Amino acid sequence: MANLSVNFAGIKSPNPFWLASAPPTNSGYQIMKAFDAGWGGAVWKTLGVPVINVSSRYGALNYRDTRMMGFNNIELITDRPLKDNLREIEEVKKYFPNNAVIASLMVETREQWHQIVKDVENAGADGIELNFGCPHGMCERGMGSAVGQDPVVLQTIVSWVMEVAKIPVIVKLTPNISHIQDPANAAQAGGANAVSLINTIQSVINVDIDNFVPTPMVDGKSTNGGYCGPAVKPIALNMVKNVALEPGFKLPISGIGGVENWKDAVEFVLMGSSTVQVCTAAMHYGFGIIREITSGFERYMDEKGFKTVDEMVGKALPQTKHWEELNLKYKVVAEINEDKCIGCQLCYIACEDGAHQAIGLSSDADNRKPHIIEENCVGCNLCSLVCPVENCITMVRRDDGKQHLTWKERTEQGTIPTTFNDELAGGLHHWVPEPADALKNKTLQKN
Ligand SMILES: Cc1cc2nc3c(=O)[nH]c(=O)nc-3n(C[C@H](O)[C@H](O)[C@H](O)COP(=O)(O)O)c2cc1C
Ligand code: SF4
Ligand code: SF4
Repeated sequence: MANLSVNFAGIKSPNPFWLASAPPTNSGYQIMKAFDAGWGGAVWKTLGVPVINVSSRYGALNYRDTRMMGFNNIELITDRPLKDNLREIEEVKKYFPNNAVIASLMVETREQWHQIVKDVENAGADGIELNFGCPHGMCERGMGSAVGQDPVVLQTIVSWVMEVAKIPVIVKLTPNISHIQDPANAAQAGGANAVSLINTIQSVINVDIDNFVPTPMVDGKSTNGGYCGPAVKPIALNMVKNVALEPGFKLPISGIGGVENWKDAVEFVLMGSSTVQVCTAAMHYGFGIIREITSGFERYMDEKGFKTVDEMVGKALPQTKHWEELNLKYKVVAEINEDKCIGCQLCYIACEDGAHQAIGLSSDADNRKPHIIEENCVGCNLCSLVCPVENCITMVRRDDGKQHLTWKERTEQGTIPTTFNDELAGGLHHWVPEPADALKNKTLQKN
């Protein structure tokens, strides 16, 4: 049976699933409820300098039938008094000594950092997370993502914290930067014990086209906010991977961004996260989602034979390469399973207008099932992604599996094309229709 308990940079937790610092961790009441439901840890809503929050403050990207596929907020850190939060941290730890309570912090001066670190340690927090990620409001005051975007300042503040911290310190990184490895390295150089990522992505989520103002609207005005939710998962996974693969980077990573179910959590762990944090999904569906996350994750571990979470961490990283290391000799083409095909022709339209004109229609008007023109197919996957029937279009291998040649190897051999007319160029012999064929109302075929 899988063991879900983790020791993340010295912070012990019954499972790797933590609530991220956000509205679900605004109070002791919520965190007690969450722990009772099964969450292993919680990063307290960021404590720091006094702020005033606005109303309204959230916006959503609803996509077709899915509400809140993307989520955006212009909320700042906690507006509750520090002493109330400290008292509640203490109380939560009395009820749940084995769950991880991490205090998220954001202040300005060295003295303020020293003081607040001591305050949360005295309250019994198990760890500290430095919020260097908030991309709205706080950054304009020189905090949040303003720090996360400046590795030198980040390292300085981390070292201030490390001067006094007795409990593990996690640095939360902003994704609003082109090279996430720089602040991650700065966190390590400053002496941090771990990093977490991502915080929200700076965004304008919608524009009210009747009133000419972006949302969320505050008395007829708006501002950019922070984007999160399922839509940001690919960006978060990529950034986690970039940090995990950074040569010389040794700190554990807490992965955050769009996690909603057990499979999302597994993906973050396979890409190098030792714990996983959740915000939007808990705001959308409540703390009860932890039951599905835990049971699904546990079942996956059992099926794959993983005894501990640590065994899983980074399992997908050796297979994650730079483009130049991919095998150019590997060749797949699309194959349609006629028995499953419902004749919707979505694949035909997608390939015809958006790919390589490699799907043909029958001249028999009663037969709506398309066929692949294999010599035109570049194996891009588009039709299989568009097809609404599961496993109706599959990608089948056509190379013999014996040859391996990458761009990197070709560069080393001196066999990369140097002009478009070069015999070595990639698309030289690919068939495309004549431009005027676009005006003929008939299926494009090579011959
Ligand atoms: C309304 C809201 C408030 C947030 N407040 C904080 C905060 O106070 N401190 C912090 O570090 N992150 C804050 N976050 C960012 C989340 O902790 C998390 O990094 C981000 O939402 C990505 O995770 P998700 O896709 O699961 O929501 C906030 C996010 C939201 C939506
Ligand atoms: S894999 Fe790409 S090129 Fe091949 S048939 Fe499908 S959409 Fe067309
Ligand atoms: S998209 Fe799928 S189901 Fe629709 S015609 Fe193409 S193969 Fe058939």
